Amino acid sequence: MERPVDWDSGAIVAVDQTVLPAELRHLRLTTVDEVVDAIRRLVVRGAPVIGVTGAFGVAIAARQHEEPGGRLDQAAVRRDAQRIVDSRPTAVNLRWAVERVLTRLPDGADGVLAEAHTVLAEDERANRTAARRAADVLRDECPDRPLRVLTHCNSGALATMGGGTAFGAIRELAGDGRLEEAIATETRPLLQGARLTVWELHRAGLPHRLCVDSAAPAAMAAGLVDAVVVGADRIAANGDTANKIGTYGLACAAAHNRIPFVVVAPQSTVDADTLSGADIPIEERDADEVVRLAGADTTVPGTRAYNPAFDVTPAGLITAIVTEQQVWRP
Ligand code: MRU
Repeated sequence: MERPVDWDSGAIVAVDQTVLPAELRHLRLTTVDEVVDAIRRLVVRGAPVIGVTGAFGVAIAARQHEEPGGRLDQAAVRRDAQRIVDSRPTAVNLRWAVERVLTRLPDGADGVLAEAHTVLAEDERANRTAARRAADVLRDECPDRPLRVLTHCNSGALATMGGGTAFGAIRELAGDGRLEEAIATETRPLLQGARLTVWELHRAGLPHRLCVDSAAPAAMAAGLVDAVVVGADRIAANGDTANKIGTYGLACAAAHNRIPFVVVAPQSTVDADTLSGADIPIEERDADEVVRLAGADTTVPGTRAYNPAFDVTPAGLITAIVTEQQVWRP
């Protein structure tokens, strides 16, 4: 698949992840307002991809605040950068990438843009390596057979550069005949698994089926799952891991059924400044996402909803956290 976000002549070109799988549509983002809106609305989503989008968003801000002679109004760029960081609070990759390109402000708009391209290229390499290493971990954990691997949300080529983290590990297993079946959870409330992961699995020609979210623990108990592999939005210093809402429940069920539970992410998702899961800010999203679906009411109009985008899986439930740099068994 082509990149989910890329840079083209002063604009971010992004796959619109809100309309898949019905339509493969690209959007051009040319202002900071458009970048913030795209991240908020999940047009671009997945921790690594919102990091790269944020980095290019700062490049847009830098160009817009360029003064005659090429100097930047650095305060103005920093204000825009903060708006981008604030657009989604949980995935640390966004803050990490934005802070990284801001270090190039003294080099002008070209320097900021060059750094954003470097962030993208590094993310591609990091995720490919992490995915390969995670596949090795899965082969070691379950050495004797082709695997039935359950994954949650979407951690594929739409969510990351380089083809995916957890999804990348599944693709690696398929590459040497070690994948029997990928099991994609629906991923409520926005169906990232049903809409995006299944679309990617279908396009890649990998054997798969869709699992009703609330059936995943039962599938594990019934012996239909050999391993669970997921991405991450922020990994705290102690290994507690934030990922899409529902991940914690899957980890509990995996532990109860003695099934390996593997987290795959680039090292930029590990946040040494966040000591434990209790310190990870969890984004709570609008009730409209759950009280309405595809334009129709799903419940009594006006119903209040609890709609956190992420939960935290305690380190003790995780078999291994795999990045391009380490296999960490917290
Ligand atoms: O709300 P989303 O769709 O951005 O949530 C994404 C996830 O939780 C992914 O699992 C995570 O970002 C890892 S993507 C490699």
